[in-house]
Amino acid sequence: MVKFLWIGIVTALVFRTWVDGFVEEKNLDETVPSLSETNGSSQAFNDTLLMVELTLVKEAAAKGAVCLDGTASAYHLHRGYGSGANSWLIHLQGGAWCNDTKSCSNRTTSLFGLGSSAYMEPYMAFSGILSNQSEENPEFFNWNRVELRYCDGASFSGDSERQEAKLQFRGQRIWLSAMDDLMSKGMRDAKNALLCGCSAGGLSAILHCDEFRGLFPTTTKVKCLSDAGFFLDAVDISGERTLRDYYSGVVSLQGVQENLPRFCTSHLDPTSCFFPENLIVNITTPLFILNSAYDSWQINNSLVPPSADPCGEWESCRYNLASCSASQMQILQGFRNQMLNAVKQFSMPNQNGMFINSCLVHCQTKESALFAHEFPALGNKTIGEALGDWYFDRSEVKVVDETCCDLALE
Ligand SMILES: *[C@@H]1O[C@H](CO)[C@@H](O)[C@H](O)[C@H]1NC(C)=O
Ligand SMILES: *[C@@H]1O[C@H](CO)[C@@H](O)[C@H](O)[C@H]1NC(C)=O
Ligand SMILES: *[C@@H]1O[C@H](CO)[C@@H](O)[C@H](O)[C@H]1NC(C)=O
Ligand SMILES: *[C@@H]1O[C@H](CO)[C@@H](O)[C@H](O)[C@H]1NC(C)=O
Ligand SMILES: *[C@@H]1O[C@H](CO)[C@@H](O)[C@H](O)[C@H]1NC(C)=O
Ligand SMILES: *[C@@H]1O[C@H](CO)[C@@H](O)[C@H](O)[C@H]1NC(C)=O
Ligand SMILES: *[C@@H]1O[C@H](CO)[C@@H](O)[C@H](O)[C@H]1NC(C)=O
Ligand SMILES: *[C@@H]1O[C@H](CO)[C@@H](O)[C@H](O)[C@H]1NC(C)=O
Repeated sequence: MVKFLWIGIVTALVFRTWVDGFVEEKNLDETVPSLSETNGSSQAFNDTLLMVELTLVKEAAAKGAVCLDGTASAYHLHRGYGSGANSWLIHLQGGAWCNDTKSCSNRTTSLFGLGSSAYMEPYMAFSGILSNQSEENPEFFNWNRVELRYCDGASFSGDSERQEAKLQFRGQRIWLSAMDDLMSKGMRDAKNALLCGCSAGGLSAILHCDEFRGLFPTTTKVKCLSDAGFFLDAVDISGERTLRDYYSGVVSLQGVQENLPRFCTSHLDPTSCFFPENLIVNITTPLFILNSAYDSWQINNSLVPPSADPCGEWESCRYNLASCSASQMQILQGFRNQMLNAVKQFSMPNQNGMFINSCLVHCQTKESALFAHEFPALGNKTIGEALGDWYFDRSEVKVVDETCCDLALE
């Protein structure tokens, strides 16, 4: 009971700020609570938060690899050492999307740099899967670890511009030029490589997975991990397809179509090919899907967007599953079933992994408290350990966990 309570608390802390439905995801790093603050860990470790400096991408401007406002794209790199010296983990930052010139322009003055490197914090906290501490991040702590900053608003996948609005949509170039730059900094000699990302970055890790594999020789072990990137093509409670409508704006405004996997665009419309459910079975590189069946962002913005809940009947349910009515729980179960169906075929090949749990959370790999928390359904391993088992082929990880890890159904 107590064990599950603290996850509820962490979630509330981390995702407290929710700005106008779609546009801004709170920069998570600002609010990452340490385990000592949450007081609930069964395995408290001493975490001194690692802060890693921002690096502007070399030749970003020459390659047109720029943020929405035309400033150079950027990443944070912390070098590996020892047994991790030739291993590389690339984490793609998240932060929702922008779907029209108004919402994209808005991002160029965002505090967190989601549309401009001029607004990016000069240091970023590396926690969870990016942590340098073996207690917290036993498998990847000494790898070369990179956070690629998200400043295009289309999951690193657009290539277009709106001159009259002074907007550049260069996600695909940002992705490619960062990979070039990192190759020149030693990634070309990688023995191990893992592409991951959370939220919009988790979607991007799926979109770019096979491309990433293609950057390396076959002797390099390459896998991908999507954290909270499994956005469903869901019908909201008022019968609309709110997220699909939104994606359609993102895809057309930013010229995403050309960069979507051909195996999908050859037989489906581009907006459909921005949904992981239409991509994952055809991705050939080993992929891990980590997602909550009650993903709090999707509940708030896709299943029950504010437009579909004008009277705020879902307000307390969004916050705590325990306060959902029976009919609300039924709707949430329907969403969960849709997710489980969508990963069924994907989960069959040995190489793929998944952990679909039932916490009211969004991203889990960068939150120390979730990443380093033991889950009974994983055989009392942490998410970090289970990912290591899958990455290094020690065992398969295909787990659906029904344990409700907030106060809700305890
Ligand atoms: C954590 O626990 C200690 C000892 O039980 C207590 O003194 C402290 O106030 C708690 N901290 C928080 C943030 O709850
Ligand atoms: C964490 O470790 C540092 C350095 O070893 C030490 O100074 C600090 O007191 C420790 N903090 C806690 C909460 O144990
Ligand atoms: C991790 O980074 C922190 C913050 O820079 C530092 O204090 C600590 O010594 C580092 N830990 C290891 C194991 O390198
Ligand atoms: C612009 O951003 C602000 C603050 O982040 C938000 O409140 C506002 O709704 C956004 N406007 C649009 C059109 O996205
Ligand atoms: C962008 O999304 C907002 C909802 O957040 C919607 O009101 C607007 O019409 C959308 N724009 C386009 C071009 O689809
Ligand atoms: C994608 O996967 C499905 C299901 O395995 C298969 O029927 C289809 O032929 C694949 N499409 C391509 C283009 O590989
Ligand atoms: C979802 O909405 C609830 C209630 O407003 C809020 O507490 C929570 O932070 C939101 N979560 C996300 C990921 O937006
Ligand atoms: C996991 O931990 C619980 C509680 O400590 C224990 O009852 C259970 O047997 C453990 N399961 C495994 C697979 O070790």
